[in-house]
Amino acid sequence: MKNNSEAFVKLLTLILGLMVGVTLLVVIIIGTVFLAHNPNILGPSKDAGVAVQSAAAPVEKEIYRGVAPKEGMWQAPEWTTVDAEPNADMIKYGKELVANTSEYLGPQGKVRKMSNGMNCQNCHLNAGTAPLGNNYGAVASTYPKVRARSGQMEDIPKRINDCFERSLNGKPLERNSREMQAMVAYMEWLGKDVPKGETPQGAGIYELAYLDRPADPIKGKAAYAQLCQSCHMEDGQGMMKPDKTGYIYPPLWGENSYNEGAGLFRMSRFAGYVKTNMPLGATFERPLLTDEQAWDVAAYVNSLPRPKKDLSADWPDISKKPIDHPFGPFSDGFTEEQHKFGPFKPIKEARQVAAK
Ligand code: HEC
Ligand code: HEC
Repeated sequence: MKNNSEAFVKLLTLILGLMVGVTLLVVIIIGTVFLAHNPNILGPSKDAGVAVQSAAAPVEKEIYRGVAPKEGMWQAPEWTTVDAEPNADMIKYGKELVANTSEYLGPQGKVRKMSNGMNCQNCHLNAGTAPLGNNYGAVASTYPKVRARSGQMEDIPKRINDCFERSLNGKPLERNSREMQAMVAYMEWLGKDVPKGETPQGAGIYELAYLDRPADPIKGKAAYAQLCQSCHMEDGQGMMKPDKTGYIYPPLWGENSYNEGAGLFRMSRFAGYVKTNMPLGATFERPLLTDEQAWDVAAYVNSLPRPKKDLSADWPDISKKPIDHPFGPFSDGFTEEQHKFGPFKPIKEARQVAAK
């Protein structure tokens, strides 16, 4: 009896051992096949680039939830082809000035001291080439043109100086300076393949759908704390590079930020910009904010103090003021409050009726 039961226990151990072995083998095989098909699971994929993006990368088969189709988006010419241009040096200098404006033209600028320390690239991402990242794809093809803000014909240098005087809260750059000519050369090269008069798909800023309610700075404050503060800081002042030649994280309000005459001070520009670009790593293909978060955070940031500007010469024809221009007088009966925070749909509808 004793021998029999001992043999039985041995047999049982053997069978159990075999089962465990086979199970392990199956797990290893399945695991290897799975990993071979999903290499991203082991770490960020090479093209993800940014932590926010890879963290959000779904393991399941991706459902496209971009705000615009990828096909047909404007793309900058291949950078390496620039050497074939007769003015390659100027184009390269222009790109350098867009990317590192502050180093040359900021408060400690080595060429001139004439702007607030921000770089053009802080808002015109990847030196003005990112699709729906406020790029320069339509600049060469659509300027000069009459702009309603000034009521005047504006060429590229005038438009660049608009951003110097408003977005960079600074002084204008001399038209005939080497720096101005370089930036113009860069923008003309970027847009060289765009037919005259055309605005290519994905140029500029994304047009975010209006909400049915006013944008809410209180909700925006909560969204800011959750989604923006880690980089732009609780006080909105961002973070300077140690050598003070520019920002690691640019400021969003306060004396070093864009002034009240800047494009981003308009709610639709700010909300559309952040929807497809912020938090850093978001793109039009992979936005990270809901429409409500984008509008509300715009309301919060644009309610806080920032430099003023004399805007009395702007919008000589007040009926041409954009729906979200926050300063009266207006040709319609809506308040400054509603022109600032919305709801914008009733204003749009009233204007359509008036235009008939
Ligand atoms: C604080 C953000 C910000 C900064 C910094 C900034 N810009 Fe802009 N820029 C804007 C916004 C917003 C617009 C308007 C985009 C729109 O309405 O579609 C704009 C528009 C432009 C346009 C016209 C684009 C078009 O297609 O009509 C040019 C050119 C331009 N900026 C050049 C510059 C240059 C050069 C610099 C640096 C000297 C600069 N910007 C810095 C925010 C900025
Ligand atoms: C992971 C860091 C990070 C987070 C989080 C982040 N940003 Fe940014 N943001 C940046 C950087 C860096 C730039 C400048 C990009 C460049 O120069 O290439 C920028 C630029 C901007 C700009 C244009 C430049 C300026 O200072 O006016 C705005 C507006 C902006 N961010 C808003 C937001 C908002 C709103 C949120 C939250 C929804 C947010 N950002 C979250 C890093 C971040």
